[in-house]
Amino acid sequence: MTAPIHRPMQAILDVAAAAALRAPSVLNTQPWHWTAHERSLDLRADPHRQLTGLDPEGRMLTISCGAALDYALIALRTEGYPARVELLPDPNDPELLASVYPLERTPAGPEHYRRYQTTLRRRTDRRPFGPEPVAEDMLAALTEAAFVHGVHVHVVQDHQVPALAAAAGYAAAAELADSADRADLRQWTRRATGAADGLPTNVTVPGRPRPVPLRPFAEDLAGKLDAGPGDDSGTRYLILWGNQDGRRAWLRAGQALSSLLLTAAELGLATSPMTDLVEVPGTRVALRRLLSWQGHPYAVVRVGAAAADLGVPAAHRRAHDDVVTLDGDRS
Ligand SMILES: Cc1cc2nc3c(=O)[nH]c(=O)nc-3n(C[C@H](O)[C@H](O)[C@H](O)COP(=O)(O)O)c2cc1C
Repeated sequence: MTAPIHRPMQAILDVAAAAALRAPSVLNTQPWHWTAHERSLDLRADPHRQLTGLDPEGRMLTISCGAALDYALIALRTEGYPARVELLPDPNDPELLASVYPLERTPAGPEHYRRYQTTLRRRTDRRPFGPEPVAEDMLAALTEAAFVHGVHVHVVQDHQVPALAAAAGYAAAAELADSADRADLRQWTRRATGAADGLPTNVTVPGRPRPVPLRPFAEDLAGKLDAGPGDDSGTRYLILWGNQDGRRAWLRAGQALSSLLLTAAELGLATSPMTDLVEVPGTRVALRRLLSWQGHPYAVVRVGAAAADLGVPAAHRRAHDDVVTLDGDRS
């Protein structure tokens, strides 16, 4: 009988950080960097990957990092380690977004393995969804998935959809009219062949009329993914929101967004975030109106039944060594 292989904690933290590369991020910028210490894992924002036109405050960058944190914690839990997390642990080090401290080993259960498997197959699906309605108990499960992180979900009501559609049209036009926003969109949708980040054209769909328009990404971007037979007639729109609007709240929003997207995938639902509505200040106000002014919107997610038979190709990810540093000098 062979003895169990003992792996140092730093190697396990390294695996968790690498697994977080699969997390969703705005325009697939993957704007984070991890340092695996001997007994803790640090998550930092990568300011060089911030969208300076679309995201001057770093809202989407921070939400993306929150999603990566959720993915890392899922991988760590699957390795047998629950963890304690400190958000923004050092006021003098603003790029340090979170430190993760593994707790005593507790074997993972089937639900942890299932969630980890879901991180491998979840994709953003921008194709129009089918006419099947999203069941109320599924909407309740998505709401619960976000609320675990203290984030609320508003399910846009049918009578609010025209206002959401008008806001989406306005957000798209506003970003295309702004030269700094356009520069960001061009930079991250026109990566060289084989690039490890940004949006490839095989995951975006050709523009077509929909009840609520999707962001066009760039004026002349020709999406190559077949849009399929859907018409978005059964699609629901969820607004993630909370009482605070700042970096701590955005990190929690990212964890909640990840949790909601993964729960949706486990329920067999397709999703895509629509955050131009939050990026543009004027449409952020329009979303607040839909929330009856009760909080701050973090993201909009469309959810529905995938109408196409084929899956969505995976968007590329950066290499492990670009994103994770191993450091032995702290325990
Ligand atoms: C904070 C955030 C904002 C996003 N905004 C949008 C968006 O407005 N439109 C869109 O189609 N996808 C959006 N996405 C999805 C990303 O483009 C997607 O996660 C990334 O390209 C990686 O692809 P994947 O999700 O299929 O792994 C967003 C994701 C995050 C985390």
